[in-house]
Amino acid sequence: MLQESQARTFALNQPVFIIGFMGAGKSTVSRCLAALCGVHAVDVDERLETRERRVIADIFSEDGEDHFRRLETEYLTEIAQGDPCLVSCGGGVVKRPENVRIMKRAGFVVYLAVTAEVSAARISDAQSRPLFKTVEVARRTMAEREPLYEAAADVRIEAGNRPVSEIAAEIRDILLDRGILGTV
Ligand code: S3P
Repeated sequence: MLQESQARTFALNQPVFIIGFMGAGKSTVSRCLAALCGVHAVDVDERLETRERRVIADIFSEDGEDHFRRLETEYLTEIAQGDPCLVSCGGGVVKRPENVRIMKRAGFVVYLAVTAEVSAARISDAQSRPLFKTVEVARRTMAEREPLYEAAADVRIEAGNRPVSEIAAEIRDILLDRGILGTV
């Protein structure tokens, strides 16, 4: 295990997809891990919003979820084919089997697991997440998705009530152990 004081530069030899429910901390952990290792991080939702020039809530209300899901697959494919980087995905990415195939074929999948209660407590801007309603709905959606996350994941990380830096360091060590992350 590396000490935090050891400043090293790393490179990924395949993309690493970070999945999990809304509020699991996918983007935050991805950014922290990117900073820790000096690798590039991309957020699928952010790229989608930038390219589409509108926020996700507007895509849902103007064109519906199916259209959003088609765009999500399009951008996921593009990112998966690019230079290996950390990829934080939207919480519903596992809903389409095609997305799971894309991720598993291209790289390594990390599942950040949280409870519906943790997710609800972290979501302060529910308006920007059209599929987040209440903690009860979140509990049901999570129960439906949990098997999908588990099936897609190469590794499951407990991400509730832990410091982001600790979660990022755990993922870094797993990626080093598996030879997905190497020093340069
Ligand atoms: C969604 C999660 C959101 C976003 C969209 C749909 C979902 O991403 O992709 O609102 O179906 O769970 P986050 O998980 O980053 O909130």
